[in-house]
Amino acid sequence: FKSFFNRARSGSNDPETVENVQGWIKSVRLMKNMAFVDLQDGTTPHTLKLVVQRAGVGSESSSEDHLRKLKTGQSVTVNSAVWMPTPTRQQPFELQAAEDAVRIVGDVPASYPLQKKSHSLSFLRTQPTLKHRSHYLGALLRFRSHVEVALTQFFELHDCTKVAPPILTSGDCEGAGELFRVESRARWGQMAQYFGQETYLTVSTQLHLEVLAAALGRCWTLSPCFRAEESDTNRHLAEFWMLETELSFIDNVYDLTVFAETMLKYVAQRCIDRQQDLLPALVPIGSNAEDVKVVVERWEALLARGQWPRLTYSEAITLLQGQHVSQPFSFEPVWGQDLQTEHEKWLAAHLDSPVFITDYPRSCKAFYMKQNTDGRTVACFDLLVPQMGELIGGSVREDNYETLLQEMSRRNMNHEDLAWYTDLRRNGSAPHGGFGLGLERFVAWLFGAHNIRDAIPFSRSAGGSIE
Ligand code: 4AD
Ligand code: MG
Repeated sequence: FKSFFNRARSGSNDPETVENVQGWIKSVRLMKNMAFVDLQDGTTPHTLKLVVQRAGVGSESSSEDHLRKLKTGQSVTVNSAVWMPTPTRQQPFELQAAEDAVRIVGDVPASYPLQKKSHSLSFLRTQPTLKHRSHYLGALLRFRSHVEVALTQFFELHDCTKVAPPILTSGDCEGAGELFRVESRARWGQMAQYFGQETYLTVSTQLHLEVLAAALGRCWTLSPCFRAEESDTNRHLAEFWMLETELSFIDNVYDLTVFAETMLKYVAQRCIDRQQDLLPALVPIGSNAEDVKVVVERWEALLARGQWPRLTYSEAITLLQGQHVSQPFSFEPVWGQDLQTEHEKWLAAHLDSPVFITDYPRSCKAFYMKQNTDGRTVACFDLLVPQMGELIGGSVREDNYETLLQEMSRRNMNHEDLAWYTDLRRNGSAPHGGFGLGLERFVAWLFGAHNIRDAIPFSRSAGGSIE
């Protein structure tokens, strides 16, 4: 359908015969002599107006039945139609076809649950195999694809090699204990350890990326990650996709934050450039053009603001404590404890901007982060964004072999298990760092969606079922 819209955009006014149009019916309005059918084929978020003319008006009752058979949800093929400009209407063209040119190739039962009207998200979420056909959720998936392409282009521009780290791993990169164990089933036997070795689905591909960055300089991946999160929230999934990058010869957090900021701004610019295609996709259920404007303004604000603010964790705690006096949070902000979601959201809302919080206390973060000279904080950052909270987590990595082993001992970690990783520090090590961005959080946030479960086709989270 895209080409039909492009033709209208190019200002063409000549009718043209088009053949073999295929799509799904979104709605049908039956008139006496014709039916107005909204069709979609997935190439654009727009629906296309098809006007089906009744053959031999008023004469044959069988032809009347044929038009009546057209229903929401069916897939149809139109052998031949005429592309016709309609400059006075909202949609600048329509396709016109005779009823015998329209063939139903996939019918629906009378109980087909998606009807013409828009459905609530809570209803759609109960329809895991049909929900993507809704205008909004289909659009969100198309938007996600657009974001992935933009990210791919960004990394291409910055000489980062895309790599494929493993999903099956032996360890817990983040040390949070939120692991899914992998088991195998021998042919006749019971479930057993994966080939006799403790194995888990990866929580983050970072440690393997560090191996690859030591060979390739700069690399990145977009991989599924798994966390046995008990949190049943609108920003946690048990299976999500993480964009991770690892950059050699980066030795300070500031450079990492600049790279992350450049990346997000690049994607925002791509969204602005492509808003013609993306805009109609943005109209969320029950909302209007005003909401669309808000989303586009958010993209523009990301670029207009100049450099985003950067605060150290200690500065953030001071700010939060000041606020806590007048308007207490549920959790008191205390130096040494990780920021709560409410703190993160408040900071970003207060500064009305994405904000980098750097140099968290060592005890709040994972074992691999580079220790600062103050002996109590690490060279890391979280990027917090309004409404969502944490979007990215990253750090400079501890590249001193002895310091890394000491930290692992302090955390009672088994050195043997991670020897493959720590040995990197003895074999041509270089300063390096990287970060991870939760793709569903990013997509949902850019799109103005409130629940990251809608930004992944099949969501897996505590309390949800699996189809
Ligand atoms: O902050 P996290 O845990 O960082 C890491 O895993 C690092 N190893 C990344 C790195 O430096 N290469 O996770 C990174 C991001 C979070 O900021 C969040 O956006 C997302 O991953 N994330 C989740 N998204 C959805 N559901 C979950 N359960 C998530 N856990 C983390
Ligand atoms: Mg984090």
